[in-house]
Amino acid sequence: MGMPSLLLCGVSIALPLFVTADECKEIEMYNETISESQPFAFNCTYTLLTNMAVNLTWYKTFSKIPVTKNRQSRIHQDQTWILFLPLAQEDSEIYQCVIRNTDGCYSLPVNLTVYKKHSCGSSIRSPMNSLDDYQQILPIGKSGSLNCPLYFPESCILDSIKWYKDCEEIKMGKQFAPSGTKLLVDNVSAEDHGNYACTARLTHIGRQFTVRKSISVNTKEVGYGGRIPNITYPKNNSIEVQLGSTLIVDCNITDVKENSNLRCWRAHGTLVDEYYKDSKRIREGIETNVSLKDNIFYTMNITFSEVKMEDYGLPFMCHAGVSAAYIILTLPAPDFRAYLIGGVFALLLLVLSILCIYNSFKIDIILWYRSAFYSTQTIDDEKVYDAYVLYPKCPRESQGHDVDTLVLKLLPEVLEKQCGYKLFIFGRDEFPGQAVANVIDENIKLCRRLIVIVAPESSGFSLLKNMSEEQIAVYNALIQDGMKVILIELEKIKDYSTMPESIQYIRQKHGAIRWSGDFAEQSQCAKTKFWKNVRYRMPPRRYPPSSPVQLLKHPCSCMAGKWDVDMGFVTR
Ligand SMILES: *[C@@H]1O[C@H](CO)[C@@H](O)[C@H](O)[C@H]1NC(C)=O
Ligand SMILES: *[C@@H]1O[C@H](CO)[C@@H](O)[C@H](O)[C@H]1NC(C)=O
Ligand SMILES: *[C@@H]1O[C@H](CO)[C@@H](O)[C@H](O)[C@H]1NC(C)=O
Ligand SMILES: *[C@@H]1O[C@H](CO)[C@@H](O)[C@H](O)[C@H]1NC(C)=O
Ligand SMILES: *[C@@H]1O[C@H](CO)[C@@H](O)[C@H](O)[C@H]1NC(C)=O
Ligand SMILES: *[C@@H]1O[C@H](CO)[C@@H](O)[C@H](O)[C@H]1NC(C)=O
Ligand SMILES: *[C@@H]1O[C@H](CO)[C@@H](O)[C@H](O)[C@H]1NC(C)=O
Ligand SMILES: *[C@@H]1O[C@H](CO)[C@@H](O)[C@H](O)[C@H]1NC(C)=O
Ligand SMILES: *[C@@H]1O[C@H](CO)[C@@H](O)[C@H](O)[C@H]1NC(C)=O
Ligand SMILES: *[C@@H]1O[C@H](CO)[C@@H](O)[C@H](O)[C@H]1NC(C)=O
Repeated sequence: MGMPSLLLCGVSIALPLFVTADECKEIEMYNETISESQPFAFNCTYTLLTNMAVNLTWYKTFSKIPVTKNRQSRIHQDQTWILFLPLAQEDSEIYQCVIRNTDGCYSLPVNLTVYKKHSCGSSIRSPMNSLDDYQQILPIGKSGSLNCPLYFPESCILDSIKWYKDCEEIKMGKQFAPSGTKLLVDNVSAEDHGNYACTARLTHIGRQFTVRKSISVNTKEVGYGGRIPNITYPKNNSIEVQLGSTLIVDCNITDVKENSNLRCWRAHGTLVDEYYKDSKRIREGIETNVSLKDNIFYTMNITFSEVKMEDYGLPFMCHAGVSAAYIILTLPAPDFRAYLIGGVFALLLLVLSILCIYNSFKIDIILWYRSAFYSTQTIDDEKVYDAYVLYPKCPRESQGHDVDTLVLKLLPEVLEKQCGYKLFIFGRDEFPGQAVANVIDENIKLCRRLIVIVAPESSGFSLLKNMSEEQIAVYNALIQDGMKVILIELEKIKDYSTMPESIQYIRQKHGAIRWSGDFAEQSQCAKTKFWKNVRYRMPPRRYPPSSPVQLLKHPCSCMAGKWDVDMGFVTR
């Protein structure tokens, strides 16, 4: 019982520390942009909660640590204020004022952005510096006043207020007179607009700081009530719109009743009705108004009967007196998914077509590559022949005659004469009187390939019967050694099951080349499909060092010159 209650106790103590602001009702965020190295203060005021008996705490949002109330600290809470003495660059963060009272909890976030200080000495005025400018108005021909916006808690004593215009201190006297935090301006003229600034000395428990506020001042003709019209929409935003569509955009303005401002839409620096007076493609709508308590709300739209390319990227300005705000049309972002699918599809198509091309031209490509890049030196593998030709011998005519023609005439003509290969053909190359077994045994080891000619059995011509057992045995052994075998079928063979198993295996694994063409010795050419197929399976070509010149002279030579592409369309 001891442990759980202890845990429960621990949780109930820890809980309030973690839940601080999380379940509080959030009020709209304030945005503050202030230059660094000067004091800054923000009062947590929320009109609905100004009744007493509130607990108010400032937090640094991301650390969830309450801001200290120690007055010596650079950042501390002073009553309802958060006070920075002074601001530093790294103070840019979201702060949160959490208000708790009997009926609930509210949190008010403040997004504080601190930027580098603008010094009057520097010639360039960075655009950032205008962000914390306060805008004020002076009425032309009348007297007006400017207010130095110094908002600090009571613990801060402010004095020595000075005023500047365009970085030069204003001489008090004829036109200008100080009054507390105000500057009175007499007989305002149009030239009085510009960049003003006020500075003040701030004393906080014996320490002194300088506060500097920039004020952007506009002048206004009489009749202007002293407030600038508020354009609530547009907000210098962009609008995505399709080319050719119609578009209607409102300009919503609130202004005080006394103001008699001109409100209009402009583009290219002119009124849109004027600029597009011929085509009437873009037109300004008729202004409507609604009276509120002491303001008046105006709406005036702009109508694009058809959006054209030239409209994109161009600001269309809504003007209301000194206020202005624009919209910019942009093309809708392209549909990313469509592009992706299209891209993948195109890639797939490309890969497929490359595979297709490679498959149909594989042999040509490889033969060309060999002829172009393989050296003409003999391969140094201690072999003498490029291929051993194994074929069935038949005492009878017909088929047997064809086999003999192929082996003894056509193979030598093409592979030896035209391509420079060296073949060992049993029955042609052995020395007379040698024992058959010895001939096979010795010579087959000196060959790089084994060419096996097979013929259909139907013609009474059995491979098994017509090849010596020894030949088959050696041939089996060689297959086990991994020697490459080129299987040439004289005719289509319907039934392989009567062939030796090793032949069936070769046929299954590497396929066979079917003989095509006639048996005339003169019409053979190394560049026909059948012979290319055979050459492709032969070792990369080598030339006998003695006879390349003679080879080159042959019209069908498989040897290419240095620039001669041996793909059948260029011959020497
Ligand atoms: C402060 O800025 C945020 C966006 O950055 C915006 O949603 C919010 O309305 C702004 N608050 C005020 C009071 O302008
Ligand atoms: C600061 O806020 C508190 C409470 O929200 C309010 O009572 C007080 O008047 C404010 N102070 C100033 C100087 O505005
Ligand atoms: C405010 O907080 C103090 C202690 O931090 C507490 O004693 C007091 O009751 C709280 N007041 C309210 C209204 O929550
Ligand atoms: C805080 O203000 C900065 C600068 O104005 C802005 O970039 C950022 O988005 C704002 N943060 C939030 C949460 O609104
Ligand atoms: C106001 O200034 C204008 C010129 O800026 C001058 O002509 C005029 O006399 C001045 N009026 C008064 C009352 O000072
Ligand atoms: C303009 O109107 C908006 C929305 O009504 C309001 O948030 C903003 O404070 C107003 N600005 C001025 C300068 O009155
Ligand atoms: C502008 O005001 C009109 C009329 O009150 C309203 O219907 C419309 O939504 C407002 N447009 C914007 C963008 O605030
Ligand atoms: C645009 O203004 C015209 C008056 O000029 C009005 O008839 C029309 O309804 C307005 N369109 C929209 C969408 O507010
Ligand atoms: C408001 O609109 C009415 C007609 O709709 C017009 O008579 C009046 O002058 C307008 N008021 C202002 C201040 O523009
Ligand atoms: C919009 O742009 C105009 C002109 O560039 C500028 O005067 C105005 O202050 C800008 N308004 C906002 C909300 O950024």
